[in-house]
Order: sequence, then C-alpha cells, then structure tokens
Amino acid sequence: MGLRIEDNASLQRLNTFGVAARARRLIILDDEAQLGEALDAAAAAGPLLVLGGGSNLLFTGDHDGTVLLIRTRGRQVIEPDGGADRPAVVAIKAGEGWDDTVRWTLDQDLPGLENLSMIPGSTGAAAVQNIGAYGVELRDRFHSLRAVHTGTGLAREFGLQDCRFGYRESIFRLTAGSPWLILELRLRVGHAFAPVISYGDLRAVFADRSAPAPAQEVAQAVRAIRARKLPDPARLGNAGSFFKNPLVDVATCQRLLALDARMPAHPAGDGGPVPMMKLSAGWLIERCGWKGYRDGDAGVDAGHALVLVNHGAASGRQLADLALRIRSSVHERFGVWLEPEPIIIGGL
Ligand code: EPU
Repeated sequence: MGLRIEDNASLQRLNTFGVAARARRLIILDDEAQLGEALDAAAAAGPLLVLGGGSNLLFTGDHDGTVLLIRTRGRQVIEPDGGADRPAVVAIKAGEGWDDTVRWTLDQDLPGLENLSMIPGSTGAAAVQNIGAYGVELRDRFHSLRAVHTGTGLAREFGLQDCRFGYRESIFRLTAGSPWLILELRLRVGHAFAPVISYGDLRAVFADRSAPAPAQEVAQAVRAIRARKLPDPARLGNAGSFFKNPLVDVATCQRLLALDARMPAHPAGDGGPVPMMKLSAGWLIERCGWKGYRDGDAGVDAGHALVLVNHGAASGRQLADLALRIRSSVHERFGVWLEPEPIIIGGL
C-alpha cells in the first residue's frame, strides 16, 4: 500500500472526543518502510503532530500543519518467558491498539499488563504518557523503545532512564511537541510479575481469595470496573480523565483534610525530595457540584466527575471553556490548581 495522504482532512473521527477539527495535511503511516517519504511529505506542510488512537487529546482548533497517523502493525516475543527470574520481552509496533496488545500478551500466558486492560489508544501513545491504572504504570513493564527524530530522520534506542517517565509524563510528551516519534515499544511481561491487586477497587474483588489471582481474572475485574466507572468513548465522546490527580505538600493536604476529613489522599510515593500527597481530582470536582453538569453538548460525566464528555456536537473550545470553569471553581474552593491530562492542541 502506498503512503496515504489527504489535504484539508477532517480529524473528527480521529479523536475520541469526536470534536470537529481539520488538518492542513493528514498522512497515514501503515508501514515503517515509508517513514522517510512520510516525513518529507510532512515537512512540506507545516508543523508535525503525531497521532495514535487520538484518545488523549483535545483539539480546540484546527491543526495548521501535518497530522501523521501511526498505523504500523506487528507484535512478537523476542525473549521467551524465563519464569520468576527472567521476564519475557515482547516488541510491539507503535500503531497496534493498546488493549489488543494487552489481550495478545494474556492469550500467550504472559501476565503483567492485566491492570492496564481496556485503556483506549495506541501502543506508542501508551509510552508517551506512561499510562497507568489500578496500581501499575507502563514504566513498571518497560524494557526499551525505538524512536525516530522527526527533524533528522535518525532512529535511536531509549532505555528506561532515557524516557524520564513520571505520572502521565515522559520526554515524548512535551507540551510544545516532542521531536520523537515512537516506532516500537518493548515490554517485559511473564510470570516474573505477580498480580497487583492492592488498588482499592481491585482489592475488594479479590478480598475472599487465598490463592493468587490469575492474570486473566484480574484483567476481567479491571474491565468490569472500567465498564462500570468510565464512559465508553465509542458511545460518548471523551478522553478519559481530563485532569491529573493533583500533588500537594503535606501541609496543604492537612489544611484540606481539616475542611473535610472525607477527602481521599494518598502518599504520592514518587520518590521526590519532598514527600507529596496525591489528591483525587474527581472528588474535588464532584464537591464543587460539577458531576453530571451539562452546558449544551459539553458536559461532565454523570458517573465520574473527572471525565469531560461530548454529548454530540460540542466543539473543542466549548469543552476547554468548561474545563477552565471547573479548574477555577476547584481553585476557588480548595486552593488547588488542576492540570489537564490530555494534550490540548490549540491551547486551553
Ligand atoms: N471520586 C469521586 N467522585 C468521582 C470520581 C472519583 O469522589 O466522580 C473519588 C473517589 O473517592 C474514588 C477516587 O476519586 O475512590 C479515585 O477514583 P478512581 O478510582 O476512579 O481513580 P481516579 O483517581 O479518578 C485514576 C486515573 C485513571 C485510572 C484510575 C485507576 C488519573 C488522572 N486517572 O483515576 O486513569 O484508570 O485512577 O487507576 O490519574 C486516565 O488517565 O485517563 C484514566 C482514566
């Protein structure tokens, strides 16, 4: 298949919020062999935006440049499972759907990714934002990745330290746009990884068991929790959590707990020099009365206050304006600024 190029392309079906936006040029990369050609065609049409599943971004305007959609496919086990001592290593092309990757590993009896079941998006994007859920983050299973510098066309390998993973962060996620395009992600999976069921919701499911929970059952439980708590982007436009859970210092946390002792707060455990506490953005937003709020087609999910939703024809600007209002009201009431989790293309 030749390189697919479309000018003045609609991006509405390429973002899970389902908002209308256009790109000066859209290039679809199905095959790594066409990367050089793709980068040349991109350079001729303004700034480059690399897109995977479009599940972690909000377009507040058009992209006056090229959108490069990564659709490369391929998965293989490159090192076999060595049991408790040595995990397997799998190599996944960036364009593979993340959840397909999780299912594929589990189908081959390679545990480790079950807690990250059902997260929308592509495998490449999973590394960009260091996806995490139910006590596991991508960096906990990371082996290495291969990325290409979109300016020079040169590829290089990245190890764990090179990626500078943080809470929904990495060097591939610069607000101003990272020059790196991830081509292949390698993960450690296998029986070296014991099930992680310490996260509240999961612990409750497995409370009565004495034997360790099999990975497939943990995946099932995660799927059930997500289906119950989070709206399906195929039915209701959204990008998962719209804000990060804020980190505050211990004194701020104590001040807020004095106002309301029910406020969820956990040690952030991020290894930083000053101990920080992680608050629950969903709880703060719900307390401000936003859960289920709707203004036109822009709204806050009725089941989870951290998720902004597009009921149909909301524009990216309307959703961003709602986000700004939520952020101001949380700041006014609690003195905490929420930071958006998705990448905002066109500015908040
Ligand atoms: N809560 C409320 N009201 C709400 C929603 C949540 O009070 O409307 C409170 C509850 O106390 C609940 C607590 O918030 O116990 C935590 O909620 P939940 O377990 O749903 O997790 P979260 O902190 O809202 C984070 C991630 C999710 C991830 C879950 C599970 C972020 C920004 N979000 O959400 O990731 O699936 O934990 O690990 O860290 C995403 O990044 O898009 C995402 C969905």
